[in-house]
Amino acid sequence: MAYYVTTPIYYVNAQPHLGHAYTTIAADILARHMRQRGEEVFFLTGTDEHGEPVTVAAEREGITPRELGDRNAVRFRDMAEKVGATNDFFIRTSDPEHMAAVQKVLQKVYDNGYVYKGQYEGWYCPRCADFKTEQEILEGNRCPIHEIELIWEQEENYFFKLSAFQERLEQLYADRPEWVRPQNRYNEALSFIKQGLIDVSLTRATLRWGVEVPWDPSHVFYVWFDALLNYYTALSYARPGEDLTDRFWPAVHLIGKDILKFHATYWPALLMAADIEVPKGEYVHGYLLMNDQKMSKSLGNVIDPFEVIDVFGADALRFYLFREVAFGQDGSVSTEGFEQRYTSELANELGNLANRTHSMVSKYRDGVVPQADPPAELTSEFDGLAEDVCAAMDRTEISSALEAIWKRVRALNRFVQEQEPWKLAKDESAAGQLDQVLYGLAEGLRVTGVLLLSILPEKADRLLVALGAEERSIECAHFGAASGGATLGELEQLFPRVEREPA
Ligand code: MSP
Repeated sequence: MAYYVTTPIYYVNAQPHLGHAYTTIAADILARHMRQRGEEVFFLTGTDEHGEPVTVAAEREGITPRELGDRNAVRFRDMAEKVGATNDFFIRTSDPEHMAAVQKVLQKVYDNGYVYKGQYEGWYCPRCADFKTEQEILEGNRCPIHEIELIWEQEENYFFKLSAFQERLEQLYADRPEWVRPQNRYNEALSFIKQGLIDVSLTRATLRWGVEVPWDPSHVFYVWFDALLNYYTALSYARPGEDLTDRFWPAVHLIGKDILKFHATYWPALLMAADIEVPKGEYVHGYLLMNDQKMSKSLGNVIDPFEVIDVFGADALRFYLFREVAFGQDGSVSTEGFEQRYTSELANELGNLANRTHSMVSKYRDGVVPQADPPAELTSEFDGLAEDVCAAMDRTEISSALEAIWKRVRALNRFVQEQEPWKLAKDESAAGQLDQVLYGLAEGLRVTGVLLLSILPEKADRLLVALGAEERSIECAHFGAASGGATLGELEQLFPRVEREPA
């Protein structure tokens, strides 16, 4: 089966911070996991380069929006690489292929009769690039997100007839109760729709930095429509000479809660207007907070993912984010919390367990995992684990998947404490029991290693190499699937103590 997962495309008006890395890592975990399940995966991320926020930022720096885009797109690309993302393509909305494809789709929306010319009057936030309704805005006509004063805009626009999709959107939500997840976000989107949809600006006449409107070149498309379409246009040119649309569309979108309205209302309506299938689903995550505030460049409370990775490695960051914050909810992160989990969970619970197991198999069994009957308590402990992990990943509940795996890491630690193999090793008559215990530990670690590959791609692989395990697919993530006899490889300490604090 084909599995197409996307991240939002990031504005190039700022540099990447941990909030951006978060969505990219989440999408990468899903992409890697689905590949392990043998799915045909396409994973897309990229940058949003048009519109007002970018124009304003470029002006502030005295450069052109294109120069700003070129400079910052590289940083987002580097960030994806640095967090270990295996994206199949990196889209930039300034790509000429994207721009041409946007024109084509929106021309179709126009030809289908969903566009008309009108006069826009209302509040506009240049930071959100969003038109705000009276109900949304704060006292003093301020933006509910950025709290800055809004601009009263008055201009001739082409409008998209969002209101024409009132019924079809309600129907979509009724037919597919899991279309937006988690449930609270589904409810939020549906209640927004039920308030009654009003038509939205599709074009801007006062901006030049964008995709030109084919039926009226004095306008450019409103940046959100240009941006949303990236998910669709990318497939048409990501592989030169090949159109992947039929193979991979529709997508699963991962988004932050700040951009729910666009994705849960404008986007499906636009696709319907262009006769394109709506996405498979949308998963909405919360905010990473620092000191109880959203981490954001404008608030100046950002953790730089590059610095954390330089000190602890990408895997530790990937682990921490999904362990600390239940994916889907808001949650606080801090460098202290990070170090604590690194030491207590990665270094102690997993790292030490791996070390102990490796050294006992080396010492007592010449580095070959013994062949023995699986210990009954571990067989039942691991029963259904791979299925639970897959089901959680299908629901995009990454933290639940990780929790299920970690429960077993802890069970293995308890098992080693209870069985005390170092004592069994002193007793000749307990050789069979020792075989069983060592096999159980190595096998349990192998299974958790396979399941952790999507979250800790480098470290879990190193663990599997150390255990002499070759298979990486989910099918082999069952306790007892390997029957022993593997020769151990080298094991360097997986999570070494870190001296320096991250900045
Ligand atoms: N360009 C638009 C998205 C267009 S998608 C067709 C945009 N860009 S953004 O760079 O401002 O933010 C993109 C995403 O970054 C958010 O939706 C969210 O996924 C992520 N995050 C940015 N800050 C975040 C946190 N502090 N916490 C979690 N995620 C956050 O909006």
